[in-house]
Parts: sequence; C-alpha cells; structure tokens
Amino acid sequence: MTATTPDTPDATAHVIAINDDVVTLRLDDPEAGRWIKNEVVHLCLPPDPGMERTHLEAEVLRVRGADADAQVYEDTAGVGIGDPVIQSGEQLAVTLGPGLLGQVYDGLQNPLPRLEAIGGRFLQRGLDVPALDRQQRWSFEATVRSGDRVVAGDGLGSVQEGRFAHRIFVPFGWAGRFTVSWVQAGSVNLDAVIARLRDENGREHPVTLAQRWPVRRPLTATLQAGGRTQRTYPDTPLTTSLRLIDTFFPIAKGGTACIPGPFGAGKTVLQNLISRYSDVDIVIVVACGERAGEVVETINEFPQLADPRTGGTLMDRTIIICNTSSMPVAAREASIHTGITLGEYYRQMGYDVLLIADSTSRWAQAMRETSGRLEEIPGEEAFPAYLESSIRQLYERAGVVRTPAGDTGSLTLIGTVSPAGGNFEEPVTQGTLNTVKTFLGLSYDRAYRRFYPAVDPLISWSRYRDQLDPWFRREMGGDWRHRVERLQQLLRDGDDIQRMMQVTGEEGISDADFLTQQQATLVDRVYLQQDAFDPVDVSTPLARQKAMLELLDHVVAMRGPFADKAAIRATFTRLTDLFHNLNGTASDSDAYRQYRDRIEALASGKPDAAQTPAPGPDDSDSDSESDGG
Ligand SMILES: Nc1ncnc2c1ncn2[C@@H]1O[C@H](COP(=O)(O)OP(=O)(O)O)[C@@H](O)[C@H]1O
Ligand SMILES: [Mg+2]
Repeated sequence: MTATTPDTPDATAHVIAINDDVVTLRLDDPEAGRWIKNEVVHLCLPPDPGMERTHLEAEVLRVRGADADAQVYEDTAGVGIGDPVIQSGEQLAVTLGPGLLGQVYDGLQNPLPRLEAIGGRFLQRGLDVPALDRQQRWSFEATVRSGDRVVAGDGLGSVQEGRFAHRIFVPFGWAGRFTVSWVQAGSVNLDAVIARLRDENGREHPVTLAQRWPVRRPLTATLQAGGRTQRTYPDTPLTTSLRLIDTFFPIAKGGTACIPGPFGAGKTVLQNLISRYSDVDIVIVVACGERAGEVVETINEFPQLADPRTGGTLMDRTIIICNTSSMPVAAREASIHTGITLGEYYRQMGYDVLLIADSTSRWAQAMRETSGRLEEIPGEEAFPAYLESSIRQLYERAGVVRTPAGDTGSLTLIGTVSPAGGNFEEPVTQGTLNTVKTFLGLSYDRAYRRFYPAVDPLISWSRYRDQLDPWFRREMGGDWRHRVERLQQLLRDGDDIQRMMQVTGEEGISDADFLTQQQATLVDRVYLQQDAFDPVDVSTPLARQKAMLELLDHVVAMRGPFADKAAIRATFTRLTDLFHNLNGTASDSDAYRQYRDRIEALASGKPDAAQTPAPGPDDSDSDSESDGG
C-alpha cells in the first residue's frame, strides 16, 4: 500500500494505528526507506473541502523495523489510518539567531504572543509561525575577511541585539574546513546571505544570520568533539544577592541546583528573585505550570519586572518558554530541551546564562505519559526506568566553556521540583538530588510561618563549597568558610535546644542554652530570612553580606553576663529590631552606620545609646526602633 496522493508526493509512510497522541507509522517501501530515532515527521490530514491539507508535526520515539511509534506535538483529532506521512530526516530543531531575546515561545519555539494574535488562542493546529522575525534588519559587522580559514563554531562577525553583541557563527553542524570566499557587512534581514564559505571540494555554502540546531543534541558536546570548545571547571559563584544562597548554599556559575518544595512553598517567587538579581547576562525561563494561570502569571510578570542591572525591563534579556498541562505532552517534554539549547547558544557567545525550569516535575510527568503510551516497562511510581539518566542528561548540559574566540561563557541550570505532598522521597526529587550540586529544600513549615525564602537551612546543602573555596578566600577573606560553618553549627544547636524547650519548657534549660537558642533565632530571622517586598532588603550584594557576617560574629560571641533569661530575651528582641532596621537601610547612609554601631555596642555588653533607661524584663518593645537612628 502506498499513501502518496497527488498533493503529498513526498510522503514515504502512512499511519497504521492511533493511540491518543502516539501514532504508529509504517514505511511505504521498507526496502528503500528507513526511520531515524527522534526524527520529525509530518502527518498529512485530509483537507476540508476547499482547504489545503493540514500537516501535524510528530517525533519518532521508537523504531521497530518498518514501523515506528511517533508522538504528535498537537491535538490528534481527525488523524486517520492510512493518512500519508512525510519524513523530514531531521530531529526536532530550533532556530538560532538574533531576535530571540524578549520572546515568549511554546516548547516547539512557536512565538506565543504572535500566535495568539493570529490564532486567537495559544496553539492552533498546523499553524506554522516563524520563530524569529524575518523582516527585521540587523547591522552585521564582519570579523573575517575573504580568504580566512574557518570551521564550524567559528565567529564570522556580529550584530547588535539590544545591548548584546550577538555573534554569528559558522553553522555548528557543518563538517570539514572552509575558506571564506565572500563576506559582506551591512544592514540585512535573516534571509540575506552574509557570507559564502568554500569547502575542501570547492563547493560554496551560503551563510545567513540564523541557523537550526536539534534540541536533543548538546551543542557544546559537538563543538568539543571538534576541539573548538573546552569545558572548564566552575570556579566562580553565581551571586544571587539572596543571603541564604550566596553565604550558606552557593551555586557555581555554570553549576546546577534543585529547588524542591510543596505547592505554595514559594518556588516561583524564589525563581523570580533569582532570575532578577543574579549576576548573569541572559535569563531563560522554562515555565511548565500545573495550571495555565501560573504560566500566564509568569508571562505577565516578567515584562513588568525592572532590571536592577540595566534600569530597563528584565524581559530585554530574557527568553520564556512556556507550557501548561493543556498543551500536548510532547511539546511539554520538548520545552526544557528547547530552553537549554537556546542557553547553550548564548553561552557560546561568551555570556553567562541562567536557565530556570519551573517545574521539572511537569516535564517528568510528560515523559511518564509518553512512556505509558509506548507501554514501556515502568519504574518507580510509573516513571520510566530511564528517568534518572534523562534528568542527568539535562543537567549535564550546564557548565562553563571556553569558546574558540577565547571567551568564557556559562550556563547555570536551576530546576524546581514539585513533589506531591512535599514528599522528597519520590523519584523526580531523588533523581534530581543525585545529579545536582546545590539543594535548596523548601519547607512547608517555614512557608506557613512566612519565613521567606522558605529554604530549610537544616536540610539544604551545597557541594560547591570546596570548589568555590579559593574564590571565597580571595574575595571574602580567609576565614569566610569557617565563619559560615560556625553559623550553621549554631543553627543546628539552636534547633536542638528549641526541641528540648518544647518538652521541658524554658525553665528546663540553662541560661547558656537559652542564649544559644536566641542567637540561632536571630541569625535565622535577620540573615536567612529576607524581605522580598523591601526595596533594600530584597537584594544583598556580597560585600554587604560580608559586613553583616562580621556584625553577626559579635552577636554570636556574646556570653553575658545576663541576669536571667528575661534579660537575654530583652537584648535579643532589641538586636533583632536593630538588624531589621539595618536590613532596610541603604549601605552608604548615616542611618546604616548608626544602626551598625548600636548593634556593635549592644553586642559588646554596653547599653544601647538610644535606649535609656534600659528595658525592663517584661518589655518586649518590638516596634520601638521604627523611629530610631
Ligand atoms: N520570598 C517571599 N516573600 C514574600 N512572600 C512570598 C515569598 N515566597 C512566597 N511567598 C508567598 O507565597 C505564595 C506562594 O508562592 P509560590 O512561589 O507561588 O509557591 P509555589 O511556586 O511553590 O507553589 C506567594 O504568592 C506569596 O504570597
Ligand atoms: Mg509555582
């Protein structure tokens, strides 16, 4: 049987079975044709009267001789047995080129706002809108000349994309050596030829500003194999300006981190804070929401967020890839690969890129659905047995690279995980924890008490400590790590004493233990917790984190004498107020210096200058500092 019809002369296969969005396809001529795993194919639906045929995209997931199982990226209603299938011979690929920044895409790189304008809703079947604006003109400046020798991944020149120099490369997939036979600078659109490269057989190949790359193939690995890019060890922290992360659980630039937490614990808010304040050039957000509303929130919020680095909007240096559970499962699964590929592309230009996937649980669930439909042998909780290796493959695409141009670029990957009921024992959380090197565990209990960011300091960890130690020694002083570890010990001791106190009451513990517990509580309240709604407190630069830690050293060294527990409590209530005021005060102000001096005086046992007479034992005076200074 052949399914080729007059208007689909390119068809080489046909549909033989349909199971929801997984279709089974058969080659028309098994002698002549073959399937490629992850190849993109097009199903040709019968046309409505007077209309052109609709083509639906699908991806080959499993090859079985002349048959293949493929996942359709769109709604499969109307697909029938015998429908002709065109093989593209290519894997799912994205378009790389200027104009990506500021875009909102779905998992298949369809631009959402424009699609909405055309289709009236998020996704219309069979609609193909180019990922990049083909009309827009870019001013191309060449860095090579006729006669220069180049290979895949070498720069040919650049265009200015916003405030970024966007490098134009010899297409990454081109094999062999080339000689530039012609290159021209000037104002061009994406379809214009900017250079011609002659291969070793004398054939000429035109180059434009855009190229395609298959999303499941790591861009860097390919260039690395050609010796044109080196991976280097991450040795610099990603500065998020969130004290709890930077000081206690640092993430390396080019590293990986995981933020698991139950629904409502603050994953999305934390993600937005990290995106906004981290010292990176470009931010990629892969938003896989449980509800459409969440994703819409992200799309609406990001353009509003002011960029603390430039004064513009954060969206100017952001790409959003979004998915909701109402989108087809294959598109949802692909989205994370699409995001990572775009990240690798900008890293290859020498930029620091941060990719946040919120939440990777949705991605894993998409994989589980597909695996179920393929009737694969299920692993734990019906996730496929290869779940953990798939997670590892994703995070392995993070890293620091040295590019052919001699630049260093990084791609940092942070994934949130939303385990049902906040149970971190489930497979996606566990698989991710076995892969990433920083773990920021959100606690329902802390979120409930509004201790934000609700990262639990007693369960979280960073395996970057050793690796980043030289950097911290250099930038933050030789005793930095020791100080941090001492504070962590204090937090653990404080927690132990707190538990004891719950059993015995305050009377059951010594004054010394009570002092330790109060010190730990202070560190938690004024250092770990950070007010996202206070314009100063929202972001603490590293230098200020260092100054704060020096101040906390005084407090932690306090031994008394205190008359009784009431005296200890009164002093720490006062200290907490002073620290809170300090946290809301700009670093270079007189008020800042005054609060700092008062904390130092109080910590060294002197009475607080602004507080005469000294507070009585029952005086909790939590608000009395609001007019202080
Ligand atoms: N850092 C924070 N500061 C203040 N409020 C927060 C913070 N983090 C979370 N919240 C509150 O918790 C709510 C839920 O947070 P969200 O990030 O949406 O949770 P999740 O993504 O884990 O479901 C937010 O709407 C906000 O009211
Ligand atoms: Mg969320």
